[in-house]
Amino acid sequence: MAFTLKINGTPHEVDVDGDTPLLWVLRDVLGMTGTKFGCGQALCGACTVHVDGAMTRSCITTVDSVGESEITTIEAIAQTPQGAALQKAWLELEVVQCGYCQSGQIMSAAALLKYTPKPTDDDIDAAMSGNVCRCGTYQRIRAAIKHAAGV
Ligand code: FES
Ligand code: FES
Repeated sequence: MAFTLKINGTPHEVDVDGDTPLLWVLRDVLGMTGTKFGCGQALCGACTVHVDGAMTRSCITTVDSVGESEITTIEAIAQTPQGAALQKAWLELEVVQCGYCQSGQIMSAAALLKYTPKPTDDDIDAAMSGNVCRCGTYQRIRAAIKHAAGV
């Protein structure tokens, strides 16, 4: 079945079953591999994208549920003020270790700062609790979010 997905401001036509996870379409159909596959069960956050600005686990989001919504992926998050500030902070504080979880981390952090520009530690913990990092970069992630937010 044909779907037109609005991704990073551009319409993309894809021909897939309606119950195909958005993550599969992004990575395997469109070749946008910045969004990662981790658990496939909404447990790790590696696949996080934004759907109409909201943090969304693309591994459990079916293509037919997205409709006309605007999808934003890590490939375009630098075009938002929050994404640009976060990526700068990530580099300055050298957050990344292996890197696998980090696109999902930045997408969750960008959604947080969009709606909560000056987050408290509790706000950060609540927003980021679903994003797992096997390398244990949590302290640097928190510091970078604060750095980006100026708090
Ligand atoms: S791959 Fe989607 S939350 Fe883990
Ligand atoms: S940096 Fe390696 S899993 Fe997070």
